[in-house]
Amino acid sequence: MKKVLVARPIFPDVIERLRQYFEVDANPGAPLAADEFARRMADRDGALLAGDPVTAKVLEGAPNLKVVSNMAVGYNNFDMQALNAHGVLGTNTPDVLNESTADFGWALMMAAARRIAESEHFLRAGKWGTWSYDAFLGTDVYGATLGVLGMGRIGQALARRARGFNMRVIYHNRSRVAPEIEAELNAEYVSKADLLKRADHLVLVLPYTAENRHTIGAAELASMQPTATLTNIARGGIVDDAALIQALRNKTIAAAGLDVFEGEPNFNRDFLTVPNVVLTPHIASATESTRRAMANLAADNLIAALGEGPRAGNPPNPINPEVLKK
Ligand code: GLV
Repeated sequence: MKKVLVARPIFPDVIERLRQYFEVDANPGAPLAADEFARRMADRDGALLAGDPVTAKVLEGAPNLKVVSNMAVGYNNFDMQALNAHGVLGTNTPDVLNESTADFGWALMMAAARRIAESEHFLRAGKWGTWSYDAFLGTDVYGATLGVLGMGRIGQALARRARGFNMRVIYHNRSRVAPEIEAELNAEYVSKADLLKRADHLVLVLPYTAENRHTIGAAELASMQPTATLTNIARGGIVDDAALIQALRNKTIAAAGLDVFEGEPNFNRDFLTVPNVVLTPHIASATESTRRAMANLAADNLIAALGEGPRAGNPPNPINPEVLKK
């Protein structure tokens, strides 16, 4: 039997599925430290993981490894150059999380715009004395301009929600999406500078790459409207968190909603002293049905890539399919 590592705790029935095909080493606890992860990968043919860094060093120490299956759509934890060099397939879990993640992005944007977390903290702290005409004034969402940075599958799902809110949709992306999608979403392609300037509510939904580190920094925040909100459901590192903390404190922008952070889970603790930000612990795809779908898809990818199951040799979501041809 081939050997696989399941590096993170996942649904027990999905681990049972894997046991039908493989000898499984399942980590039931905290994420494995880099050395321990490398040690447990050393004799494996494949691994199912979630965000664990797959580095050149890990790959050098794992000569039998054929596939790493990420239970996430983003795969910036993979050193793709090293994967290609070692002929190791990477897979991810796109599509199944689009709607849950877009729902959550919408919720964060709404919470930031309407100061839901901030006012709830006020109430819980026993500070609610009287009604006041100017208590927790927020920014309207209905009829406002939604800015989407990164118009992939999740960006499009977000833009679709904007129709019910009578919003104008503007977006920026590496490349323009097809005209029929622009027409369906009633979305206007604009430069990044225009997106920052015009958006009432800017949502980040782009993949993390070395090039877009700090793509939203002090200068970009300064070019936004003082009434604008910023929501990040993409990846930590796309935003310069220290610059965002400054901008929120100075009211350069009105508010932010963040599900992802630089260095998470060790995020910048200064955020905790900033009232106009809603903070969640990277849970945008976290509904029971979506996480189940992601876990099962990650298992499907692993099983198929290791030549087993109904799709043997033809995993549904190869990131670097070139290595399958070698
Ligand atoms: C979650 O962050 C994912 O990439 O699926």
